[in-house]
Amino acid sequence: MNKLITLEGGEGTGKSTQASFLFKSLKKVTKRVILTREPGGTIQGEKIREILVKKQKFEWDPITELLLVNAARNEHLKNIIIPAIKQNVIVCDRFIDSTFAYQILAKGIKKKYFKLINEVIIKKVIPKITFLIDIAPNIGLSRTIKRKSNENRYESYNIEFHEKVRKSYLELARRSKRIRIIDGSQSRLNVHKSIIDSLNKSKFLKIKIPYALEND
Ligand SMILES: Nc1ncnc2c1ncn2[C@@H]1O[C@H](COP(=O)(O)OP(=O)(O)OP(=O)(O)O)[C@@H](O)[C@H]1O
Ligand SMILES: [Mg+2]
Repeated sequence: MNKLITLEGGEGTGKSTQASFLFKSLKKVTKRVILTREPGGTIQGEKIREILVKKQKFEWDPITELLLVNAARNEHLKNIIIPAIKQNVIVCDRFIDSTFAYQILAKGIKKKYFKLINEVIIKKVIPKITFLIDIAPNIGLSRTIKRKSNENRYESYNIEFHEKVRKSYLELARRSKRIRIIDGSQSRLNVHKSIIDSLNKSKFLKIKIPYALEND
């Protein structure tokens, strides 16, 4: 049975923070849980991540970017997700909806290219549940600036781009039952509780998932 959970949202919405909290919660009730991320999740994919997320002196053509993201995803699916999906809960920090929001809708690539590449790469691996952490882009961006990471290529895009990403995600959520919108303006702990409550409400696992405490 598919137990792939993905976390989605714009820059600095709290995806990585929440992926790690969720992982800690799940660890309390099962050994069979994997925390991973995109782009990345494999040695090969992490190499590709570096050239995608670090700000460079040049820009990628949008199609090149789409292919790079999917090259990393192909490695991730073949080496991590597909071998593990039947026996494990997988928590993945960004996945296909990021591609749809960023490369297809915000950068304006034809949807048919997304469909075509997905047919080749992901086939039927669709997340069971996706949490879309939603927050105004200026708040998310102000958080990432404080974080001082060198993964700042997208952060350097203008606010209109980030507004487009947010709108695209919300549009996706309106059309897909698997996507649950979470208010990212709450405290870290309350965002976490909203995610756990949502999973428990839908009986994601037979057993109740506890909250992870921030310092454990
Ligand atoms: N609910 C929150 N309230 C305030 N700050 C938060 C909250 N959640 C996360 N943060 C902080 O905001 C920064 C960005 O969080 P995080 O790295 O989890 O976001 P992200 O969505 O993974 O970002 P990116 O899109 O760059 O991968 C971090 O410094 C984190 O500690
Ligand atoms: Mg992150």
